[in-house]
Amino acid sequence: MEDTILIEKIEQLKKQKRAVILAHYYQIPQIQDIADFVGDSLALAQQAKGVEADILVMCGVHFMAETAKIICPDKKVLIPEPAAGCSLADSCKASDLSAWKEQHPDHLVVSYVNTSAQVKALSDVVVTSSNALKIVNALPTDRPILFGPDYNLGNYINSVTGREMSLWNGACHVHSRFSVSELIKLMKQYPEADVVAHPECKKAVLELSDYIGSTQAILNYVRKSDKSVFIVLTESGILHKMQLACPDKTFIPVPPEASELMVDGKLVPCSCNECEYMRMNTLQKLYECLLNETNEVLVDEQTAQQAIRSINRMLEMSN
Ligand code: 13P
Ligand code: SF4
Repeated sequence: MEDTILIEKIEQLKKQKRAVILAHYYQIPQIQDIADFVGDSLALAQQAKGVEADILVMCGVHFMAETAKIICPDKKVLIPEPAAGCSLADSCKASDLSAWKEQHPDHLVVSYVNTSAQVKALSDVVVTSSNALKIVNALPTDRPILFGPDYNLGNYINSVTGREMSLWNGACHVHSRFSVSELIKLMKQYPEADVVAHPECKKAVLELSDYIGSTQAILNYVRKSDKSVFIVLTESGILHKMQLACPDKTFIPVPPEASELMVDGKLVPCSCNECEYMRMNTLQKLYECLLNETNEVLVDEQTAQQAIRSINRMLEMSN
């Protein structure tokens, strides 16, 4: 079906079914444009809490839909593509976190939102890249911290707060593969540019950046900045909203280390860094899941009751 027809049908279904579409900044532009709300992980969770709807379609990855379901147990939460996972969330199993906790019984467990519901259920507080600094700074100083699963974010928070933190060795395969040598080349080519980076990027990249923040924070930064050129180190889906918000500014994506991608069995040059999980959602899948109310995301009650405590603590501490 053509995009224009799909868009019309999705709009009709939204009204008929009292459905709301939430989308992350890494979604394809067509999905960002049809969504009722586009945000970063924190804003999506906050939005889910206040939303008035019977159905919530989360256009993002699985942990985002799961978090929304835990926040809104009475709503039907759907995801266009149930296989849209997250390499970072997959790097930390609940059983491994449990064993780590047992080795460090005096530590507080701070988990990044990019985790399964089971991991959140074992955590004292959840954080996102928007609020991790604020929340870690507000935790009691006499308690050491276990931080997982993103090593780069944890290491960055640790370097700023100076807190006693043990870090899980997980990484986002998208953010950790930005090429430092390509970044340096771009910095030489555009000496007037500001370098903006997501804290999931590796230390060598963060050390070269002028601004480090969540997707939402980066967007706010480029909107307000007097600069007109930005070298961007986060998933390239963000460029859509950046260009809409600042049509006169220039945004340059940094390529990944392997700057060729396999498409239909052929290697093609690639100048930007995409999350293949985020890109699994399409307008067609969004339409079908709303039409048939398929791909419902469910969380078992016991896990949800435990996980909501660490999520609510995050939402309270973010205010
Ligand atoms: P934020 O949207 O919180 O910046 O996180 C980025 C991310 O990697 C989501 O998967
Ligand atoms: Fe996970 Fe990285 Fe994709 Fe975000 S960009 S969903 S952290 S794999």
